[in-house]
Amino acid sequence: MESLNKDNILKLLQMSRGYISGQSMCEKFNCSRTAIWKKINKLRREGYVIDSITNKGYKLVGSPNSLKVDEITERLVTEGLDYEIKFFGDIDSTNLEIKRQAENGGKDGLVVISERQTEGRGRRGRDWSSESTGNVYMSILLRPEMNPNKAPMITLIMGAAVNKALNELTGANVYIKWPNDIIIHGKKLAGILTEMILETDYINFIVIGVGINVLQDKFDEEIANKASSVFLETELKIDRAELIVAVLKEFNILYKQFLEVGNLSFMMPWFNDMLITRHKQVRVISGPNETTGVSLGVDEEGELLVETKDGVEKFRAGEISIRGMDGYI
Ligand code: BTN
Repeated sequence: MESLNKDNILKLLQMSRGYISGQSMCEKFNCSRTAIWKKINKLRREGYVIDSITNKGYKLVGSPNSLKVDEITERLVTEGLDYEIKFFGDIDSTNLEIKRQAENGGKDGLVVISERQTEGRGRRGRDWSSESTGNVYMSILLRPEMNPNKAPMITLIMGAAVNKALNELTGANVYIKWPNDIIIHGKKLAGILTEMILETDYINFIVIGVGINVLQDKFDEEIANKASSVFLETELKIDRAELIVAVLKEFNILYKQFLEVGNLSFMMPWFNDMLITRHKQVRVISGPNETTGVSLGVDEEGELLVETKDGVEKFRAGEISIRGMDGYI
């Protein structure tokens, strides 16, 4: 009889090709299903990605590669946000986990990172495909004391941080599609989902979630013409821990300045130079309304200025989406 410990469970999972039932594991280790489940969860916390299906059992689908909490925390010395990293092999959604942690007293600067998400969420209630284990799925908890109408600017700050980090690590021309998409070669590399929880008229907390396609080597047909990864576009297998550290460091620098100044003036005009739609004809879709015009860039409050036939109109991040005249860009 083999003794029940996580190493033996791991060996068993590594040796089996398909799913291995909980029952056969109980028999092998002479223990209860709960005991197995506890060891499985221990492995998940170490970064192993283990699928579980009722009546089928468990299957190892991913191992912790370069993403280890220590590798991130050791390199992450910042002044400003006091980052605390929590790492999961598998989770429903890092944004949801931040919300749970926030309700339980989680602190400003808490970061949740996962190898995979089972319910990854995008903007406008869309799904964010999170099956692939070579990407970045990360969310940050923020508890700023500021007027809630300033919060959309934090999405732009995160966009700027991701953009800077990717430009630095890949040397490629990475752009921002206002308000929250990161673009390379006309395709989306990363997205940001900011959620704000309000308490009457003040911010209880903000969750800022970032998904970056890093090592993913194929995309479903429906999205392959508009989504891509760092690897597919640059052939680089960048180190995800390094990328996460770079994003968090950049974000910390920019966010600190934003808290001091209260607007985005400190990152102008650089931010406007990064905008992929600048000086281009765009369609601004806001609910049932659509406006066309030339995108002039964003102002210090993060609002998009569009020159329409009736003059310059301002649009706030949050409620609207932007399209090029022929499609996504
Ligand atoms: C979008 O462009 O629609 C936003 C995508 C945001 C995806 C990230 S992945 C980490 C975090 N957790 C989620 O469920 N969503 C965000």
